[in-house]
Amino acid sequence: MDLGLKDKVYVVTGATRGLGHATAQQLVAEGARVVVSGRSQEAADAAASALGENAHGVAADNADPATPQRLIDAATSRFGGFDGILISVGGPGAGPVSTATDEAWRTAFDSVFLGALRLARTAAEHLAEGGVIGFVLSTSVRQPIPGLGISNGLRPGLAMAAKTLADELGPRGIRVLGLLPGRIDTDRVRELDSLAADPAAARDTAAASIPLRRYGTPEEFGRTAAFLLSPAASYLTGLMLPVDGGATRGL
Ligand SMILES: NC(=O)c1ccc[n+]([C@@H]2O[C@H](COP(=O)([O-])OP(=O)(O)OC[C@H]3O[C@@H](n4cnc5c(N)ncnc54)[C@H](OP(=O)(O)O)[C@@H]3O)[C@@H](O)[C@H]2O)c1
Repeated sequence: MDLGLKDKVYVVTGATRGLGHATAQQLVAEGARVVVSGRSQEAADAAASALGENAHGVAADNADPATPQRLIDAATSRFGGFDGILISVGGPGAGPVSTATDEAWRTAFDSVFLGALRLARTAAEHLAEGGVIGFVLSTSVRQPIPGLGISNGLRPGLAMAAKTLADELGPRGIRVLGLLPGRIDTDRVRELDSLAADPAAARDTAAASIPLRRYGTPEEFGRTAAFLLSPAASYLTGLMLPVDGGATRGL
């Protein structure tokens, strides 16, 4: 199957490593060109150079109101177009709801929630028919993850805002969707496991609760995301797709 990605131009935020980077790799492998971002120019440049000549790195914090326009401008000036965006960002801090401070909620809200919506809103202004907006969310959209109170609080609302945006942008032929990673083996998940008294045992226990009995690889996530972002997925919008080895209990 041809995904139709050749010469398409995507912005992928939070793409210096982890799920964003893995998606950018797949997009480039299928012939697309990508602007990849992270908070430092050094990391963004390193990520772009690992991806090759069809990638360009920009330092841009998702919490910064100037970021959306800067990234879209980079896509159009460097690659002559803008066909879609995948919005990923560092996850919110771990801990229970009962002890999360106002400051922790506000910081996470700015980058995870408002930053993502602002990127989506600005992208929508610039996308033509066939454009796509993808949100990297979490299985916490569907069920709470123990110890991740802020994620559990923010992600479901963001998913519903994305669903609403799909209704609003559908008539223009712009698709909006979310990806719900479960446990994909990135720095983020390793950091979360390292908070346990016995990280290896925590990982084994978590893997044992997944029907496929293992963590996902970033490549598996990246292939799924690249398909959803591609023209081959042209009738998919308004959906939240778990990429979780079957872990989510609800359908
Ligand atoms: N991995 C999983 O299984 C999993 C499961 C559920 C949810 N998620 C969520 O999916 C998202 C991505 O996860 P991941 O595993 O790829 O995380 P990760 O390995 O920690 O990577 C996060 C990426 O986001 C960038 N970043 C962090 N803060 C940023 C900001 N304010 N503005 C722009 N870029 C920023 C980081 O780059 P710099 O450090 O260079 O800025 C890095 O490239 C997170 O929100 C995470 O909570 C992941």
